Amino acid sequence: MKNFFLSNDIDEVVERISTISKDLSGKNVLLTGGRGFLGRYFVEVFDRLNKGVLDKPVTLIVLDNLITAGKEGAQMPKYDHVEFIKHNVIHPFAYEGPLDYVIHAAGIASPYYYRAYPIETMEVAINGTRNMLDLAEKSSARFSFFSSSEIYGDPDTKHVPMQESYRGNVSCQGPRACYDESKRAGETLCYIYHTQNGTATNTIRPFNVYGPGMQETDYRVLPNFASRIKSGSPLHIYGDGTQTRTFCYITDALVGFFKVFLKGVPGEAYNIGNPKPEISMIDLAKTLKIISSSKIKYDIIEYPDSYPADEPMRRSPDIRKAHLQLGFEPIVGFEEGLCRFLLWADEVYVGEQ
Ligand SMILES: NC(=O)c1ccc[n+]([C@@H]2O[C@H](COP(=O)([O-])OP(=O)(O)OC[C@H]3O[C@@H](n4cnc5c(N)ncnc54)[C@H](O)[C@@H]3O)[C@@H](O)[C@H]2O)c1
Repeated sequence: MKNFFLSNDIDEVVERISTISKDLSGKNVLLTGGRGFLGRYFVEVFDRLNKGVLDKPVTLIVLDNLITAGKEGAQMPKYDHVEFIKHNVIHPFAYEGPLDYVIHAAGIASPYYYRAYPIETMEVAINGTRNMLDLAEKSSARFSFFSSSEIYGDPDTKHVPMQESYRGNVSCQGPRACYDESKRAGETLCYIYHTQNGTATNTIRPFNVYGPGMQETDYRVLPNFASRIKSGSPLHIYGDGTQTRTFCYITDALVGFFKVFLKGVPGEAYNIGNPKPEISMIDLAKTLKIISSSKIKYDIIEYPDSYPADEPMRRSPDIRKAHLQLGFEPIVGFEEGLCRFLLWADEVYVGEQ
């Protein structure tokens, strides 16, 4: 799997979760969206735990309908104790075996794709979540839902960095509503199953996770910029370029996700991201210029039709809750993470953006 992961990154994650991962010994896990960017990492980490850490292996069932999995996701390598089933989770999944954990990571995550598939985006976050909650409830399994930092919408600056208690500023109409509103509804379903049915649910709100393995045609900002660097084209910054984001390197994010799957307080939502630095898109382009050996130019352009405008001006997580309750702490610096990603992208991307 040299093309999708840096082996050292997987080692780093396995090392950092080695103590808590013992809970997984001999357990049964259902993972949705398992051929996407995050899902492929989960499978790889479970496989590595099976090979070197756990007394008894985890058995993993992976569901994905491959709608946005790309050519990377379409190839399913053989792993022991992992079964891949092509399934659209908006339909119930008939499964009678035991389950200890259900991880619902299926979703349409990139703004480019949720502009193209707005109904499917809503269905996977609402109907898909409901179906997976039913399975978790039936099996008394722990349930983790991949929500998003986008549920906070376009925050008032006094709520930046955002705490989990911030209710958000989200439009129910407009090009981003299908994603933001359906993730909010998915979180509400988790809340109902927890409070009414006693299901142990958690929601995870990731803030811009990046790293090796992102599809070149993912269209999120870092793979988009890396692809244009590869082809020697100027970077296209949409809007006025002052919108800010924070970026969390994949190994830090994975450690946070596993901490929530295994130790999250039932019923709770957790921000998982790296609050430092909060950086504008113009400064991101400048940083890439400094750390990359290529001569990078950038243009500031109007939002293309394929990309939903109306984007939030600021995005930065308050991660004190995950830190205090779960001991989550990102340790990979921004420039270090960017270097790892750019070196990988330079080897794998062909410059097609
Ligand atoms: N990566 C991030 O920074 C980030 C940030 C916020 C939220 N999230 C959420 O985390 C989850 C995983 O993100 P990712 O970056 O791996 O996204 P991804 O697009 O790379 O992977 C999602 C996977 O879900 C699958 N899928 C979509 N609809 C499905 C359906 N109806 N049935 C079965 N499979 C379906 C896709 O084919 C794809 O393989 C998503 O729910 C996303 O919304 C991710």
